[in-house]
Amino acid sequence: LENGLARTPPMGWMSWTIFWCQIDCIKYPGKCINERMYKDMADRLVEDGYKDFGYNRVHIDDCWMEMKRDKTGTLIADRDRFPSGIQALSRYMHAKGILLGIYEDYGNKTCGGYPGSQYYLEKDANTFAEWEVDYLKLDGCYAEEDDMAIGYPAMSDFLKKTGRDIVYSCSWPAYLEDEPEKVDYNVIGKYCNLWRNYGDISAKWSSIQKIIDYYTENQDKLIPAAGPGRWHDPDMIVVGQNTVTPDQSRTQMSLWSIWSAPLIMSNDLRVIKPVYKKILQNSLVIAVDQDPLGIMGRMIFNNSDFAVYLKPITPVDTDKNLYSYAVVFFNRNTDRSSVVSIMYGQLGLNNPLGYFVQDLWENQYLGLKRSIDVYVATIPPTGVKMIKATLAHKFFIDTPTA
Ligand code: DGJ
Repeated sequence: LENGLARTPPMGWMSWTIFWCQIDCIKYPGKCINERMYKDMADRLVEDGYKDFGYNRVHIDDCWMEMKRDKTGTLIADRDRFPSGIQALSRYMHAKGILLGIYEDYGNKTCGGYPGSQYYLEKDANTFAEWEVDYLKLDGCYAEEDDMAIGYPAMSDFLKKTGRDIVYSCSWPAYLEDEPEKVDYNVIGKYCNLWRNYGDISAKWSSIQKIIDYYTENQDKLIPAAGPGRWHDPDMIVVGQNTVTPDQSRTQMSLWSIWSAPLIMSNDLRVIKPVYKKILQNSLVIAVDQDPLGIMGRMIFNNSDFAVYLKPITPVDTDKNLYSYAVVFFNRNTDRSSVVSIMYGQLGLNNPLGYFVQDLWENQYLGLKRSIDVYVATIPPTGVKMIKATLAHKFFIDTPTA
């Protein structure tokens, strides 16, 4: 969507995959959907440095509302759990340089059973703008699939009419997963800044693996649709939840970055282990995700030992049509390490002057490599290696440092 927003994939935090629809704040204090919890996460983003790495959004997900609209048809935040209201919450965020996202549903109910936007699209768009909200995730439960091609674009227009900058995330294609012939990313990309297209993630390797498979199998359809202002959303980053290992966490961050995917964490930032915080705050990997070209990378090779994913990034030699690249070597086996031994030329890295190659998880400079040089590494099970190959060019003087 060309509304000037989300020129790089959005980054931040969202509640669903860690706190779900927990509304019992007596039994689960600190771990339920209420204003205090969202404020806590904003505080952590700022005070623990995440914001400096680009994570500048806090997103409310389902279960924030009262069960009924008010007499004028306006949505109300649950009065016990959000006693100060959403506008006060967005002001709290804005004072810290954090943007606030909210959740609604295009159907007549949200997935959690709260009032949906059906028949209230314009009213809800205006309410969110009045509350100074910066992002809307519009889910698709309890909606007619055939109406979506009308409703999702209509909401896009209503958001635009408010005059407020609101990033628009559509779950539209996710609800058409079984009818892929109805998914036209040219149309979706015209109306939405990002969109979910596959099932919900949970903090388990099997779930991450399923998403990787879906994105890989469908890459030829997905790649041309992505770019600045319009991103595929493979769902939240679950790094920091202890059910996902550090190796698996690096895999998720690496592949999501290859795909130029949103990096929206769902974890408890108040109790996160240092090993996960370090993975989430790897500026080299984040820079691949946020590369200004906004190209979605692809799998270029795979055998029973490993798969290779490649993403063109800056700096670029436009005259010669030469790119720099981020490369991920992924070992999908759960029970054994894999050894990679491959010539750079086999990856398509054929610049005669070579590339400055850097390991992004070890933060180590590996040297100037030409097409006949060989990359060798051992990848742990369900893990990755990730490198960046920066185009060597006689006019580039900003060579990377280790
Ligand atoms: C389905 C979505 O895909 C999830 O991300 C989450 O928003 C839930 N609905 C909330 O009910």
